[in-house]
Amino acid sequence: MIVLIFVLLFTVCVATKIYFKLITGWCKSQTCLKGKTALVTGPTSGIGYHTALDFAKRGARVILGCLNQTEGEWTRSRIIGETGNENVEVKLIDLNSFDSIRAFAKEINDTEERLDILVNNAGVIGFGNRRTKDDCLYVMQVNYFGPFLLTHLLIELLKKSKGSRIVNVSSLVAATVYDLDLTKLNTYPGLDHKLYARSKFCVQLFTIELAKKLRSTDITTYSVHPGIVRTNLFENVYGLGKIIILLGLFFFKTSEEGAQTTIHCAVCKGIEKLSGEHFVDCNKVSPYKSTTNLELSRKLWKVTTEIVQLKSEEIRL
Ligand SMILES: NC(=O)c1ccc[n+]([C@@H]2O[C@H](COP(=O)([O-])OP(=O)(O)OC[C@H]3O[C@@H](n4cnc5c(N)ncnc54)[C@H](OP(=O)(O)O)[C@@H]3O)[C@@H](O)[C@H]2O)c1
Repeated sequence: MIVLIFVLLFTVCVATKIYFKLITGWCKSQTCLKGKTALVTGPTSGIGYHTALDFAKRGARVILGCLNQTEGEWTRSRIIGETGNENVEVKLIDLNSFDSIRAFAKEINDTEERLDILVNNAGVIGFGNRRTKDDCLYVMQVNYFGPFLLTHLLIELLKKSKGSRIVNVSSLVAATVYDLDLTKLNTYPGLDHKLYARSKFCVQLFTIELAKKLRSTDITTYSVHPGIVRTNLFENVYGLGKIIILLGLFFFKTSEEGAQTTIHCAVCKGIEKLSGEHFVDCNKVSPYKSTTNLELSRKLWKVTTEIVQLKSEEIRL
C-alpha cells in the first residue's frame, strides 16, 4: 500500500513538473541589441543575471546596477566569459538609500549617451519591520520606492532613445492585495509575505500609471510576474513559508526560465500597444482585479512622489 501511494505521488509530481515545463513561456524574439544600452538592477543572481546575460548575448551595452562591487565584477566576468561581449559595466546602487539612487542616476546621466532598456528587477522578501535610513520599510523601498525614484531620474535619458522600454518585475502575489491603505504604505502589516505583496502591488499600479504618463512619448512600460523561480530570493524567508518553499522547490522554474518574460517585454517587437499591461509566461494577462482601480494608481503616484521626496527639477513625468 505504502509503495502504491509513493508511486502515485511520484507520478503526480512528475506529471505536474512536465505540465509546468510545457506552459513555461520562452522569449522567441530574435531582436538584436547592438548599439543599444540596457540597465538591469539586481543582476548578480537569479532572474536579473539571466536577463543581463541575454541582453549581452544580443550585443547590447549592459549596465549592471549592483549592490556589491565584488559580486558585480564577478558577474561582469561571467557574462563576458559566456557571451564574448565586453561592453558590460558595473555601477553601484543601493535601492535601500535614496541618496545612493540619486548618485547612481547622476553617474548614468553624466556618462551614458542613451538608455534603451531599464529593468527594475532587484527585489527582496523577508526583513520584517526593518527600516531604511530614509525611514521607509526596507522591502517597500527596495522593491517599490527605489525603482519609482530611479525611473523618474532616468526618464530624460530614456526619452533620448527611440522606443525605449521600462520593465518592472512584480509578482503574482500582488493579486492578494485588496486593501491598500495609502496612509500606511510604510507601516509593517505583521507578516512578511503581506509586505512583499504590497510592494509588488504598488509596482503594478506604478506601471499602469507610468504608461499613462508616457502616452505622449514612445517609451513603453510593462510589469511582469516571472513565475515561481528557484533563486536566492527566499533566503530570508523563515518558518512555515520556508517549509512550503522547500517542498515546492522541485516545481519551481530555473532562473533562465524566470527571466524569459522580462526579456520578452524588453525586446519583443509589436507589443508597444500593450504598454502598462501585466505579463506572465511571455503573454499579456488580464489585470488582477485589485489593480483596476485607476483612481488608486493615481493617488499612489502622488503619495510616492512625497515619500521619495522628489524635487521639482526631478519631476519629468
Ligand atoms: N524568485 C521568484 O520566485 C520570484 C517570483 C516573483 C517575483 N520575483 C521578483 O524577481 C526579482 C528578482 O529576484 P530573484 O528571484 O532573481 O532573487 P535574487 O536572486 O535574490 O536577486 C535579487 C537581486 O536584487 C539585488 N538586491 C537586493 N537588495 C538590493 C538593494 N538594496 N539594492 C540593489 N540591489 C539589491 C540582489 O543583490 P545581492 O545579491 O548583492 O544582494 C540580487 O542581485 C525580484 O524583484 C523578485 O521580487 C521573484
